[in-house]
Formats: sequence, C-alpha cells, structure tokens
Amino acid sequence: MKKIAIIGAGRVGESTAHNLAKAELCREVVLIDIKEGVPQGTALDIQESAPIFDFDTKLSGSNELTAMAGAELVVITAGIPRKPGMSRSDVLDTNLAVMYGIVDVMRVSAPNAMLLMVTNPVDVLTYAAWKRTGWPRERVFGMAGVLDSARMASFVAMETGFSVKDINAMVLGGHGDTMVPMTRFTCINGIPIEHFLSQEKIDKIVKRTRDGGAEILSLRKTASAYDAPAAAIATMVDAISHNRRHILPAVAILQGEYGLHDIGMGVPVVFGERGMERVIELPLATAEAAEFKKSANMIQADLERLKKQ
Ligand code: 2OP
Repeated sequence: MKKIAIIGAGRVGESTAHNLAKAELCREVVLIDIKEGVPQGTALDIQESAPIFDFDTKLSGSNELTAMAGAELVVITAGIPRKPGMSRSDVLDTNLAVMYGIVDVMRVSAPNAMLLMVTNPVDVLTYAAWKRTGWPRERVFGMAGVLDSARMASFVAMETGFSVKDINAMVLGGHGDTMVPMTRFTCINGIPIEHFLSQEKIDKIVKRTRDGGAEILSLRKTASAYDAPAAAIATMVDAISHNRRHILPAVAILQGEYGLHDIGMGVPVVFGERGMERVIELPLATAEAAEFKKSANMIQADLERLKKQ
C-alpha cells in the first residue's frame, strides 16, 4: 500500500504506526491527532528509529483530519479509553461522536479507502461507521478477534508450557464480556486442547480471555492494552497489504451469516487486498450457538439505543 492513515496518536496509534513501519507494510504512514505536536513528535520519534530498524516507510504527523487524503487504509484508534470498572459500552456515546467526525472527513478525503475500526465498543462502532460511509461491507471492518485469540493462545501456552507458535486459538462474538472463545477450534499443532487440559483449566482460560482487556487495565490502572492490540492491527494490515487471503477473526458486518442481519460482530473472515473478502460460516454446536446469540443480543441492545438517539 502507498499510504495508511492512523487516527489517534495515543498508545495504540503510536504502537501501530511503529509496527506498520518496521514491517514496511506501506510506503507512508500519517498519524493524526487533535493534540498539538503529539502526532508530529510521535511520527518523528518513530522515523528516527528507521536507520536502526532498517525501514523505508515515511512517517508524518498532523492535527488535520484532511491529512488522510489519498490513504488506502484508515485505522481509527481515536476516542476515550475506558477506566477501571467501566465496560466498553460505557464509552459509546463519546466515541460515537468522535468517530462520526472522522468518518465524515474520510468520505471526502479518502473516498476509496478501507476502514479498520479499533476504538471501543468496536462491534457497535464498526457497524455505525459502515452505515455512515454507505460503503460496501468489504471495506469496513474492526479489530478484536485477532487480539482476543492471541490472548487465549498466550494463556494456553502459559498453562501447557508448549510453544505459542504451535497454538491456534479462535475467539468469536462481540469484543466484550460475552465474547465466545471457541475451545473446539483451539488446537496445539492440530491437537485439540482437551487432550492436554482439564475442563476446569479450559474454563479458567476462557474466563481470563474474556477479562483480558480488563486484566491489563486493572494492572496499569491508567492505560488499556496497546502492545497486543497494535500487533493484532498489524496482522490484519499485513494480510491486506500482501493479499494473503488469511483467515482471521474480525468484526464484520453480517448480512445473513450465522442467522444475523444488520449487525457488526466477530466472525472468521478472509482478508486480502480488497479487505474483508468473505465471511466464513462455521456450523456451531448448540451451546456455542447460544453463546453467540447472547453476544449478538448485547451488541443489538447498544445498536437499538443508537437508533433511538
Ligand atoms: C482490550 O481488549 C482495550 O478493548 C481493548 O484491551
């Protein structure tokens, strides 16, 4: 890709810019934030690591949203983070207003871009952004499942002692307390985790995965996770920029898949140069389908609230 714009030069935005540049996933990264000097200083700081990390990607910072002009991909990380004790939905109203302001400029300045939503509550905001753009659903998607699955894989590695490289975890559903860690599809080099872990240990891993974001926040107190989220974003961008046709769990707009219409939610999708190319519909077991539905209902409740506003 030629140009990627990252909106929000907080920790997630900064870490994402560095990951994209280090991996040379595009020729130019522009970091945009309303805080004077912050995106400029951050871009310069990362740029000065180029001779050491050996990358040619050019970085710049701006306080103007129009600096995203011509971007092929816009990554939205801007918004207020939650504080300990808050749910991701508690920040909805503020972040929705921020997101609409960004998307309205994007429709004019980068009308052919893809949009990768990161700001929480990510399922609801991905849906609302998609509605606002009027773009095909292939070009509007959100990051959650890669992060949640990476957390689950980390916990499986910690519990079993096996190489994390052998572990494939899958987390679907909404990015919140009702996310659906799919233990049936979580394997260690193809061997289902049940072979190595008791049900009690698996249940603990599922709970820790659901609480993954809150665990980091409660330890740091003033900052949510950013290293693992930024790595997850880079994985998605890598799949798009290299047209890998990688299967990744991500927030996609559902149009009938899993029996759901008109909602944004975490499902396995294929990422390639056109963005979210295809939703993969897995046959769910009864208990999985019930959890998936519960998760969808939570997102739907936020969406209903939005429609009434
Ligand atoms: C997380 O899960 C902040 O939602 C983000 O860490």
